Amino acid sequence: MESLEVERNWSVLEFYAGIGGMHFALRACGVPFKVVGAFDINTTTNQIYAHNFPNVLLHQRNIQVLTTKTLDKINADIWTMSPPCQPFTRLGKKLDVEDRRTDSFKILMQNLVEMQNPPRFILLENVKGFETSEARELLIETLQKRSYIVKEYLLSPAQFQIPNSRPRYYALARRTEGATDVELSSQPTLLTELPFASSASTCCHSVGEYLQDSAGAEYELVPDKFLGKHGIVLDIVDRRSTRSSCFTKSYTQYAGGTGSVLCTNDDVQTDNIKTSSLFERYEKCVDDEERIALLRPLGLRFFTPREVANIMGFPSTFEQPPMTSSRQMYKALGNSINVVVVSLLLRYLLSAEF
Ligand SMILES: C[S@@+](CC[C@H](N)C(=O)[O-])C[C@H]1O[C@@H](n2cnc3c(N)ncnc32)[C@H](O)[C@@H]1O
Repeated sequence: MESLEVERNWSVLEFYAGIGGMHFALRACGVPFKVVGAFDINTTTNQIYAHNFPNVLLHQRNIQVLTTKTLDKINADIWTMSPPCQPFTRLGKKLDVEDRRTDSFKILMQNLVEMQNPPRFILLENVKGFETSEARELLIETLQKRSYIVKEYLLSPAQFQIPNSRPRYYALARRTEGATDVELSSQPTLLTELPFASSASTCCHSVGEYLQDSAGAEYELVPDKFLGKHGIVLDIVDRRSTRSSCFTKSYTQYAGGTGSVLCTNDDVQTDNIKTSSLFERYEKCVDDEERIALLRPLGLRFFTPREVANIMGFPSTFEQPPMTSSRQMYKALGNSINVVVVSLLLRYLLSAEF
């Protein structure tokens, strides 16, 4: 196992902090640290963050207003960041650096160029697609200019025995005095495996291990509207499944492409359900009523926010504040990160092996 650099209590600045996925990942990775500041403009995610980390200095502020002088004064060892991903998503307009939502990231990069005390480590997370963006070019150019060794990854929790797909881009950067010009100017290659986290095992946890105890949970059934009109696009899994699809901020709002739904009828095996005779019949139904009647026995329900959080690696101590609705929680979780994957990345970044 890698040896962690525990020479001191690392000070951390959490940009685009959201609900604190990075903070939980830092806790999980086992290094001593203190978050000296967290920044986000969103009132709802800030409520969730503040509820879970009442002692952190959380700034409800636009990152664009941060100056080089302020950042130099804070002088943090580690920066974590998940800049807004809409400018890079597959289904979006892909405006990249022309999108106003990338402005704060560009300003942050400019600050990094001008700072006297740049952080020693940086971890950036974004959607798959960021790796081919101009924003990524700006990131690598800036980091190399300031003598960072950079490693880039495309990873999904499914590689780490977690039954969920969430392919994401990650950049790890460590500032170093001893790097050669060649090291600092060569383009990093996009890696798909972490050196010491075994991702080869075929054993995978099952969805059932992440479900709530039925006693304390309130389940939301998949509405008839989805069953009658969009059954084909629902991604159906059951408690024995070793996979689920990525939970997005629109989970429960649209039937397709926003996250899996759970079949609660244990007699039904969902592995190949879309090619089964059930869905052959579904395709032949003449109206919504008939389709609803056909799918109702599956007992389809949504994963609860707690269950989505479990699958995304949030610890049991993570709480939904009383004033936050389930809808708000799904949205915030959909924008967040897989805590387990990021903790493995942080462990590597902060190890002597990096
Ligand atoms: C992809 S999410 C980050 C999620 C976070 N890693 C988490 O674990 O929840 C991006 C976050 O950046 C925030 N944000 C976007 N633009 C911002 C800006 N200019 N200044 C501060 N926060 C911003 C959004 O409110 C959102 O919470």
